[in-house]
Amino acid sequence: MAIAVRSSERPDDASEPVKIAAFVTDPESESAIEDALGRMGAPKFRVKRGGVRAAIEHFSNHGSTPVIIVDVSEVDMALSHIDELANVCEPDVQVIVLGKENNVGLFRDLMRMGVTDYLVKPAPYEHLYRAVRLALGEEDPSRPQTQRLGKVVAVNGARGGAGATTLLANVGWILANKQSRRVVLVDLDLQNGSLHLALDFPANHGLREALENAHRLDPLFLERTMLQHGPRLFALAAEEPLEEDIVYSPDAVRDLTQILQKQFHYVFIDVPRGAPGALEIVRRADIRILVAEPSIASVRDIVRRLEAISGESNGRRNYIALNHPRQDSKGELTVEQFEEGIGHKVDFVIPYGKSMAAESLNFGEPLASRKCAASAAFASIAGELIGDRPHTVSMLQRLLRNKRAG
Ligand SMILES: Nc1ncnc2c1ncn2[C@@H]1O[C@H](COP(=O)(O)OP(=O)(O)OP(=O)(O)O)[C@@H](O)[C@H]1O
Ligand SMILES: [Mg+2]
Repeated sequence: MAIAVRSSERPDDASEPVKIAAFVTDPESESAIEDALGRMGAPKFRVKRGGVRAAIEHFSNHGSTPVIIVDVSEVDMALSHIDELANVCEPDVQVIVLGKENNVGLFRDLMRMGVTDYLVKPAPYEHLYRAVRLALGEEDPSRPQTQRLGKVVAVNGARGGAGATTLLANVGWILANKQSRRVVLVDLDLQNGSLHLALDFPANHGLREALENAHRLDPLFLERTMLQHGPRLFALAAEEPLEEDIVYSPDAVRDLTQILQKQFHYVFIDVPRGAPGALEIVRRADIRILVAEPSIASVRDIVRRLEAISGESNGRRNYIALNHPRQDSKGELTVEQFEEGIGHKVDFVIPYGKSMAAESLNFGEPLASRKCAASAAFASIAGELIGDRPHTVSMLQRLLRNKRAG
């Protein structure tokens, strides 16, 4: 769809980023919004013709502006379009919705979704003024601001080589490339991490600097130091000299993730076993994924970790992924034996992916980009994270269980 039939801006510094983007369906709304934004002295803005569909298309390909004004009068299912818009924008974006229906139910549903305000067209200047000020965080501080924050997902291997980095790289890749979520992967193993190799990123020193100076971290610095793998997948990964002592605290990781949560729907943290405060970092995450291989040693490691990271209070979720990183299954525990050992259900079973080690990971194309049983398992983890399906073991997973058990 062609958008931006017309766009208007205040005549100001060209390098200044656009703060407000409006997408409206009719010329009356276009000039009303231009006038209102100009009159109230709003920061740099742009008004485009096209409505919510054009907004979704636009922000699928461009970074979001802090405030979006969007017209839903052209679509039947306003709520699902706004949900789609939220999924292509950064989580902390503020959305003002314009519509033609004076409908309290719709208003309530939109507010529940985190929309700043719903205005019926033609919206009077006072209403637009108030909504825009609110969206810019300049009015009514007593009113709780609904800010959407991304989820922090900590992935921790029970033992070396269990497949934590593989899981993180593949699930992150699926969320970014198949589910249109903005995803950042953070590899906390600053010296021996393999995430950048897995996705073929060049490592740099930015993550170390960020963690060592987390109290005065600058979002712009982070943006510059991030590695990019496609339009929605980003990473922070390092390859620091082995002989140096690198010290950072779980608080530094929290400060870093708090900034990232505003810009990304998912902040994945690859937490190496030896990282300083590793368990504390896992404990603080919204979603904790423990990755094990089917061995007795892994049983013990999972039991110890489950005890240490505690339960699923405050909406936090624990998942256990049983991965098969080796082709030779001799001496491996079956899924049932493993579950019996840990006294807990396994949430995800990931089969051995034949082509993975040899080709795909090493060339930056994760296995998830191909069709196979392992990539289906990664897709089901991604589906669970976005709440796309009830968390049940899929038919394929059941088949794999039986096969492994037999
Ligand atoms: N399901 C799988 N199928 C095939 N190969 C796999 C699978 N899972 C992991 N591997 C391979 O096993 C090796 C170890 O995996 P990975 O690096 O993800 O483990 P890790 O838990 O992150 O290890 P580390 O402790 O070194 O951080 C890699 O070469 C990876 O390609
Ligand atoms: Mg790893």
